[in-house]
Amino acid sequence: MTIIDGKKIANDIKEEIASVVMKIKDNDGKVPHLAAILVGNDPASETYVASKEKSCKEVGFDSSVYNMPADTSEEELLKTVKFLNDDPEIDGFIVQLPLPKHIDENKVIQAINPAKDVDGFHPVNVGRMTIGLPSYVSATPNGIMELIKRSGIETSGKNCVVLGRSNIVGRPMSILMSMNNENANSTVTICHSKTKKIKEITSKADILIVAIGKPEFVTADMVKEGAVVIDVGIHRVESSTSKTGFRLIGDVKYDEVSAKASMITPVPGGVGPMTIVSLLMNTLKASKKEIYG
Ligand code: GUN
Repeated sequence: MTIIDGKKIANDIKEEIASVVMKIKDNDGKVPHLAAILVGNDPASETYVASKEKSCKEVGFDSSVYNMPADTSEEELLKTVKFLNDDPEIDGFIVQLPLPKHIDENKVIQAINPAKDVDGFHPVNVGRMTIGLPSYVSATPNGIMELIKRSGIETSGKNCVVLGRSNIVGRPMSILMSMNNENANSTVTICHSKTKKIKEITSKADILIVAIGKPEFVTADMVKEGAVVIDVGIHRVESSTSKTGFRLIGDVKYDEVSAKASMITPVPGGVGPMTIVSLLMNTLKASKKEIYG
């Protein structure tokens, strides 16, 4: 069994990006600049935005964060989105989700200029991705595709089962794995909360991608011998053996499933580190105007 080392692959990609940025600086070119809008004080969102800033620094990108109070009106937020759309200094930006309940998330996402939508959430990017046109692909699915490619996982003609149908992970993942290209070409089944006999389906998967949001949902009896298992879940649970008093677990029961899988991503250190790196890759593309010219 091989553990897919997402942390190492993410670090390799960061080094590649950093060397591109060095060249840009040497040539007095424009340094990629990623901005984030953070509304309110959700601790998970604050952590996520802070680690984006840290990663930007590591590769030499400029970054800025627009902190807005939790009672910001939708109109004020839309104004900030427009400001960033119009600012030539900003190559790409994200609006950290979730937003406070009084703000319509879809309206905000649709206000972002698709050319700066490095999260790949705008319907134009989702649509372009779906029909195989150049687009920004959202960070987690993009990171998983990169992980699969760099780990030399054979995908063509394989049965790929995706657990979860969220707009951010499961659905784009299912589309990407079914695309007609050398890094995909899988036969894809997507399972969700209404799927019947889920075990019968998962146990036929050569590649099982789990983004269901339920701690240790996938057990060994659900997995085919020799399958590749990608675990997108991340849950914090109390632990008496850890110094911090908690540990992180995924959507997959790692100990028993890893004994059956041929390759598996750990939690932490699997999919997680690839997510932010994907955002950096998209921002680099944005600064080079690779997608929209
Ligand atoms: N909240 C959780 N994940 C994400 C993400 O990838 N992008 C944004 N904007 N918000 C998130």
